[in-house]
Amino acid sequence: TGYITFDPGYVSTGSCQSDITFLDGEKGILLYRGIPIEQLAEKSNFIETAFLLIYGHLPNRSELDYFQYHITHHSMVHESIKKLYDGFPNNPHPMAVCSAVVGALATFYQDQFNNQTAREIEITIHRLLAKLPTIAAYSYKKSLGQPFLYPQNHLSYTKNFLNMMFATPCEPYEVNPVAAKALDVLLMLHADHEQNCSTSTVRLVGSSRCNLYSSVSAGIYALWGPLHGGANQAVVEMLQKIQDEGGDAKKFVEKAKKPNEEGSSRLFGFGHRVYKNFDPRSKIIKQMAHEVLDKLKVQEPLLDIALQLEEIALKDDYFISKKLYPNVDFYSGIIYKALRIPVNMFPVMFAIGRLPGWIAHWVELQGDKDFRIGRPRQIYQGKTSHDYVPLEQRG
Ligand code: CMC
Repeated sequence: TGYITFDPGYVSTGSCQSDITFLDGEKGILLYRGIPIEQLAEKSNFIETAFLLIYGHLPNRSELDYFQYHITHHSMVHESIKKLYDGFPNNPHPMAVCSAVVGALATFYQDQFNNQTAREIEITIHRLLAKLPTIAAYSYKKSLGQPFLYPQNHLSYTKNFLNMMFATPCEPYEVNPVAAKALDVLLMLHADHEQNCSTSTVRLVGSSRCNLYSSVSAGIYALWGPLHGGANQAVVEMLQKIQDEGGDAKKFVEKAKKPNEEGSSRLFGFGHRVYKNFDPRSKIIKQMAHEVLDKLKVQEPLLDIALQLEEIALKDDYFISKKLYPNVDFYSGIIYKALRIPVNMFPVMFAIGRLPGWIAHWVELQGDKDFRIGRPRQIYQGKTSHDYVPLEQRG
């Protein structure tokens, strides 16, 4: 009842009050709990940033050690979880697998759902952050038909993940510290972004007082689409297509200007609902792409195509007038590719990075003094009331 505001895509609806992340789309500012993303990318690491987002302050030494210890020591998954992977067909998309397996965690830890204590929520947070890289690496191993490797507690978060991805039982694998560091920074840059589609999904699901595992599982699915976290996969596939068709970036930009025409596609990795000047994450990632390729001695022709595409688009009236700039997904895939991460795992990398943000928002919502179940209204456009017609009288 009463007045309903029509706001498709929630462009101007503030769905909650939040203390977690600040965005200024005009000035290209992104702050996690008040700290600029540039400073975190340079000085922090993913685990510390996760603590910051979830608990609201930078951890002191003992808080960090405790957090780190528990995340490290919850990284194994129940042996029965491994059997779930055998039920999937060959080569499923790893996002589908990750969401399904994260959802299944709710069957393993279901004793702790209602009226959770702070301690129970804490264990759930540790478990999710610890197990998602294991779950993700196993989805890759399954697609290769290789055995799953146990996590290694002496390795850092990203070294452990890369080890589970690329080591085999027959051969030790030395994780390149440049690769581990690059991945850590990328995860940090993805860690939160206020009320984006997947975070809003986690909040909406959590607003029915649904548990954190299931809320995060829904968030992974929301992230998968090519307009959101699936864009990093779509960007590299787009760059590959341009290369396969002779490398004409200009032709592709022309097509992207007619998104409704058959055979056309948006310029993936471009545009953002909030950023109308530049995406601060993209600036850092572009710079990183050059450095990481250089340090790893990787030649990547797709980087040249991306640079050309960006240059052409940024001079084009269509992109200028619509304020479309490279977003976080435009250059990240080039780095993942240099780390040998397969293209269909790119959205999974985004999910591992975004997990602290999802958790922080779920936790914030549960403690919100204004807590209410999320329940948008609609503007009904259907038929007005009319009588039921028996089957034999219908035309
Ligand atoms: N290529 C060509 N045209 C575009 C693009 C693009 N990448 N992005 C927006 N437009 C056009 C769009 O057609 C529309 O034109 P018009 O006003 O003539 O209808 C106008 O720009 C505004 O676009 P919109 O779709 O109304 O904007 P939105 O805020 O609803 O969508 C977006 C934002 C990110 C979904 C969109 O820019 C897009 O689809 N980009 C490509 C996919 C992408 O890179 N997604 C990752 C986003 S950043 C990370 C994340 O959130 O996951």
